[in-house]
Amino acid sequence: MRRQQDVPGAPGDVIRLDNVTKAYQAGTAPALASVTMSVANGEVAAIMGPSGSGKSTLLNLIAGLDRPTSGTVTVAGQRIDSLGEGALARFRARHVGIIFQFFNLLDDLTVEDNVLLPAQLAGASRRGARARAGELLARLGIDKHRDHYPARLSGGQRQRVAIARALVNSPELLLADEPTGALDTATGQEIGRLLSELNAAGQTLVLVTHDPALAARYAARTVRLVDGQVADPRTAGVGA
Ligand SMILES: Nc1ncnc2c1ncn2[C@@H]1O[C@H](COP(=O)(O)OP(=O)(O)OP(=O)(O)O)[C@@H](O)[C@H]1O
Ligand SMILES: [Mg+2]
Repeated sequence: MRRQQDVPGAPGDVIRLDNVTKAYQAGTAPALASVTMSVANGEVAAIMGPSGSGKSTLLNLIAGLDRPTSGTVTVAGQRIDSLGEGALARFRARHVGIIFQFFNLLDDLTVEDNVLLPAQLAGASRRGARARAGELLARLGIDKHRDHYPARLSGGQRQRVAIARALVNSPELLLADEPTGALDTATGQEIGRLLSELNAAGQTLVLVTHDPALAARYAARTVRLVDGQVADPRTAGVGA
């Protein structure tokens, strides 16, 4: 295991990207071009920018769902850009929770079994995982739906289930890609408040959003991407 001193960035950083470039196809403009940025432990950072500016690409690289073409990605003290598939899957299960615009729940599993899935994949004991799932469902106000199927739930309730699932393994980092994009304004605000409460309790959070109100209200810092680059390096969280 690498020690903190062996990896780039300050000790308090949960995320550190150095000169990260991602090109999906050779010969076309890269989706991300030489991005350097960091997010500190306990911080909530919003990522904004026009459609196609590279927001989801950035989140996927931080989540270890994809690898950069060049540059280094360090998350939770570990260099993840050079990990193989198996190591990357283990890294994701342990250190990162991610929620999406359309919830991505499995319709043929109950709410509780959806939440338990990442714990199962991480090899956690069923007993411990059920206790943790119960605690999260209660905290998110959806414990009475534990044995229901996602199809019966409202959008806001489904996103709460997705948040519980993302947090079941107590990851250092919660990533959210347009978490309110499929919700009405009032429900979106509820989810925003919920994410903000989680952050107040210490959860580091990166929030991709098109919604300036959500970013302004809940994120201490907004990083704006334009054409795959950080528009203002002063917002990147690293000494420029
Ligand atoms: N899997 C892929 N293969 C090829 N090109 C891709 C892939 N994913 C994204 N791109 C391209 O990379 C660029 C950045 O896409 P990305 O999805 O990161 O943008 P975004 O900022 O999340 O946009 P949106 O706000 O619409 O979600 C776009 O030009 C997109 O077409
Ligand atoms: Mg996107």
